[in-house]
Formats: sequence, structure tokens, C-alpha cells
Amino acid sequence: MSKKTIHPAKAVAGGVAPPGDKSISHRYAMLAGIAEGASELSNFALAADCHSTLACMKALGAEVKVDKSLVRVTGHGLHGLKSSRRALDAGNSGTTIRLLSGILAGQNFITKIAGDGSLNKRPMKRILTPLREMGAQILARDENFAPLEIHGGKLRGIHYEMPMASAQVKSAVLLAGLFAEGDTIVLEPARTRDHTELALEEFGVPIERHGLTTRIRGDGKIKLTGRKIEVPGDLSSAVFFIAAASLFPESSLHIQGVGLNPTRTAVLDVFARMGATIEMLSLRSAQGEVIGDLAVKGARLKGGVIERAEIPLVIDELPMLAALGPFTEEGIEIRDAAELRVKESDRIAALAENLRRMGAKVEERPDGLKVEGRGAGKLHGAEIQPHGDHRIAMAFAVAALGAEGPTTIRDAECAGVSYPTFYDDLARVAEA
Ligand code: S3P
Repeated sequence: MSKKTIHPAKAVAGGVAPPGDKSISHRYAMLAGIAEGASELSNFALAADCHSTLACMKALGAEVKVDKSLVRVTGHGLHGLKSSRRALDAGNSGTTIRLLSGILAGQNFITKIAGDGSLNKRPMKRILTPLREMGAQILARDENFAPLEIHGGKLRGIHYEMPMASAQVKSAVLLAGLFAEGDTIVLEPARTRDHTELALEEFGVPIERHGLTTRIRGDGKIKLTGRKIEVPGDLSSAVFFIAAASLFPESSLHIQGVGLNPTRTAVLDVFARMGATIEMLSLRSAQGEVIGDLAVKGARLKGGVIERAEIPLVIDELPMLAALGPFTEEGIEIRDAAELRVKESDRIAALAENLRRMGAKVEERPDGLKVEGRGAGKLHGAEIQPHGDHRIAMAFAVAALGAEGPTTIRDAECAGVSYPTFYDDLARVAEA
């Protein structure tokens, strides 16, 4: 496995365009695969995760052609998928297995789906419960884990009050709702990213939304039509560069073409609260989503607490925010985030372990962590163990820019799960 050495920097400057959004790419690939006719998806994520989704859609009978970030998918309509001869492989991707399970629940065939060692340890009961209530039969290891064997069939719409704030669970139910008889209604306990709702509308499915309730009408008239559609750049990837630029007073970075959907931008509010200097420029709309540029200048970060309803809105950015703790005045405290323990790694443990390796003072808690600020001393270079988790690897590559001495990231290529060109892009803007 490859190691990557990151040297300290003095500033972060120039321009960067993060690759296409991972969450949105998954959804466009799945919907294009059950739409009628051809779809052209531009700026599709380079992320390995989204290529797992494309491979699954191909195995289910959609035609998929990939030319770098331009992806063409031709579907055969809502009932056009075919049984796959092989078990589907979702790789490292929770979004692939959880969202696709919603679609597979509505098929009149059996599908086996599993992932890598990490994914097969992540909880699936959260989707099994509503999908079974809709009428699907699903076998799971120990009633909670992949491999899953999904016996799809006739589904009925349900009114599902979600016990947790999860866009993946909401999306799995809504996607199953496409195949159900009667209305499917989902009530979220707190707002989560709404890319599935927006994507469904773009592909021609009317969605009704009132507050935290979303409804799909199961009136037998649902039809998705192939589309030409652009994927915005991934804000969750851009966050590593926002953080990197914020570390140095001399920084001036322009981040181009980033998705700024309001259900994703809470992280910008957190940065603003901490004293970061970020300006949104050139806002435009792209098929329901919002795209813009970000101009980031160096800052003296204050730090602070991240908790409660904000957590699901910044869940993927918490590794980077936590790793910024030692560079802030007051440190960073994360509460109410036990969900971090069941991501691509146990992110609370991985953050605490690696922050300590770099000399930070950290208190690990069941549902979060408290990272001491600048007063606890400067970070030093160390050997980082990302535990196969892309966001841990990238968060510490950024922290390494502000540390004393070089840092080595073990198993560095795991960044490719969401951002294969990350280290090259970082090296281009980091000034020694
Ligand atoms: C995602 C939802 C979030 C997020 C994940 C992507 C999505 O997961 O952490 O990286 O694309 O819907 P949860 O729904 O489990 O919170």
C-alpha cells in the first residue's frame, strides 16, 4: 500500500476545482439507469464509490459508457432492470448499497449485494426496517449487515417516521416508493441533504415537500426520462481546501464550480462562526442544484462547538473540522455525533488516535470528541493510520501542512474513494 509524505506549507494559493459531487453522482447514475432513454452526466464524480454504483447499474442491465468525467447511461425505464448473474459489489460505498436496496426492493427478481470489509460491518437495519414494511423480503447477516439478499416484489407505500436523520435512509424509502402502490411518505426528524428529491424532480417525478415531510404519489403514472445533466463540484471535497487555506494568514484560494445546495452548506456556517473568510461568487443554478465559486482567505480560527441538528448537515465534514482543532484559539468540540463511529471507519477513534500521533490533546467521548486548541502546543509530523477511510487520510494531509516536520499518510490511496486526484491538487496549491 502506498504512503504519501506531506511537508509543511507557508500558504495555500491559486485555484482548484474539486471533482463532481459524490452524493449527487450516485443519484444521477441510479435514476438514469431506471429512466427511459439516454442520459448524459457531465462532471460525474471520479470517486471510486460512484464507479461502484455505475458497475452495479451495468450489471442490472443499464448501458454505461464512461469517458473520464462524462458518463452516458441508457436505461430501459422503471421496469427495465434485469437480474444480475453475479452478486453486486458496492465496494466501500454506503450510499450505493443503501440507495440501491430501495430500487432492488421493487424488482421482481432476487439480488445479492455486498461490499468491502468496511462496508460489510456498517449497519443496514436502518433500511431493512422500512423496506420490509413496504413488502420486500431481505436477508441480512445477523439481521443487520451485508451481504444482503433482496427478494424484491410488489411494494406498498408507507408513511415512515424516520427514527434517525439520514439522507441514505430517506432516499432508500423514496426510491422504493417509485415502485410502490399508494403514496410513500417520509418524515425526517431533522433536515438532511435533499439531492434525491431534487434529482427525482429533474428526471420527471413530481415530489411533494412540506417541512420535513416528503411524499411520492404511487398512482401508477411514475416515469423517469433520460436527461443531460451536470454534476456540481463536491463541497465535501472542497472543505479540505477551505481548511487548508484557512490555516495560513497569507493564503488566497479560489475554489471553482462547487455545489452549494443549502442542505450541504452548513459547514460554511461553521467555518464563518469560527472566523474563516469565505466568499461565495458566481452563483448559478444547475438542474435544481446550486453551483458557485468560493474565495477563501487565510484566517485566525476561533474554534467552537458543533452539536445537535447541525451534526447531520456536516457529518462528512467533521473529520476535517476536528483535525483543525489544534490550529484554533479555543479548540473544537463535537457532540451528538455517535453516527461517526459507523462511517467508513470509526471516525471518532481514528481522529483521536491520529490527532494524538501528531501531538494534539484530545478527549474521546462516546458521541464525539474535544480537541484542545493552539494553547496545547503545535502539531508535529507523524505517521498517520487512516484505517482505510478517505476522509481521515485527507483531513490529516491538510493538518500536516500546518505541522512541524513531515507527515506520512499510510495507505494514502484510500482518498480515491471520493477524490482520486486529491494529493496532486493539494500539492499544486500548497506553497512551501
Ligand atoms: C450520504 C448521506 C450521509 C453521508 C454520506 C452520503 C448520501 O450518510 O454521510 O457520506 O449521499 O445520502 P447518512 O445518510 O448515513 O447520514
